[in-house]
Amino acid sequence: MSIIDQAGTFTFGDRTVKRLGYGAMQLAGPGVFGPPKDQDAALAVLRSAVESGVNHIDTSDFYGPHVTNRLIREALAPYSDDLVIVTKIGARRGEDGSWLPAFSREALTQAVHDNLCNLGLDVLDVVNLRIMFDAHGPAEGSIEAPLTVVADLQRQGLVRHIGLSNVTATQVSEGRRICRIVCVQNHYNLAHRADDALIDALGRDGIAYVPFFPLGGFSPLQSSTLSTVARRLDATPMQVALAWLLRRAPNILLIPGTSSVAHLQENLAAAGCRLPDDVVEELDGVASGGSHQS
Ligand SMILES: NC(=O)c1ccc[n+]([C@@H]2O[C@H](COP(=O)([O-])OP(=O)(O)OC[C@H]3O[C@@H](n4cnc5c(N)ncnc54)[C@H](OP(=O)(O)O)[C@@H]3O)[C@@H](O)[C@H]2O)c1
Repeated sequence: MSIIDQAGTFTFGDRTVKRLGYGAMQLAGPGVFGPPKDQDAALAVLRSAVESGVNHIDTSDFYGPHVTNRLIREALAPYSDDLVIVTKIGARRGEDGSWLPAFSREALTQAVHDNLCNLGLDVLDVVNLRIMFDAHGPAEGSIEAPLTVVADLQRQGLVRHIGLSNVTATQVSEGRRICRIVCVQNHYNLAHRADDALIDALGRDGIAYVPFFPLGGFSPLQSSTLSTVARRLDATPMQVALAWLLRRAPNILLIPGTSSVAHLQENLAAAGCRLPDDVVEELDGVASGGSHQS
């Protein structure tokens, strides 16, 4: 039994994963564009994750592009049966590294085939449709046209389960009328809690909520409350931030990203970090102002 087993499991679709997983985005080059500065170090992070019991890895073919998927294949194929690789489609990269929408039937179909090819799979376990009406946050608008394409690809047997990313509650409801949605991946962490109500609603319906930027993303979380609590618990601020998410709702699955084996191991050890009720209350205050700085 590894330490991450202490965080429990969650089943999306027919696949059960541990609640502490790994997000591969940080393995690509600067700006998630181009190759990593140290290919062997990137492969070592992936192998260390799986050796430590991780069985949920988040990726996309637009990280690099193609870079993280090819690293995953090189480090981990042939994959163990319990490994669930979750990918996402709906964006493409400009020549300057910009993030552009890619929602046409052709683009979505090509993206599924690119993911299959670069990961070396016959079927993708979970595909998140990443909505790009506003690349930086959810924005209203119908998702029917692109989601119908993904549902068609599922019927063709190329995609096992479908999720949504960067979406509003209205879009989740619209999506659920089109096909079964097993997970939602949006920006959420201790300091950024716009999705509180959505998380609870999804939990009632057995749908996973997978926060991206669980540690604050490109500008990691900084808060004096977090630092003080971490010192008191003999943990690190990042472990406390992850433990708070695990405690926040049972349908939350974590995919913290890192390019370092040391940070990976630190993050996985958060599964063993128990937060007393009074500490949770203190941390809850971080989002409502207090000493939050990022
Ligand atoms: N659906 C979407 O639109 C979307 C958007 C963004 C990300 N994602 C997914 O979500 C995953 C997680 O998000 P993320 O990686 O962007 O952000 P994150 O997990 O919030 O934070 C990653 C950042 O924190 C640093 N870090 C990680 N562990 C640390 C530790 N223990 N101590 C200090 N610093 C630490 C990393 O640097 P080091 O490399 O130096 O550790 C990196 O700069 C991604 O990997 C990706 O799979 C999805």
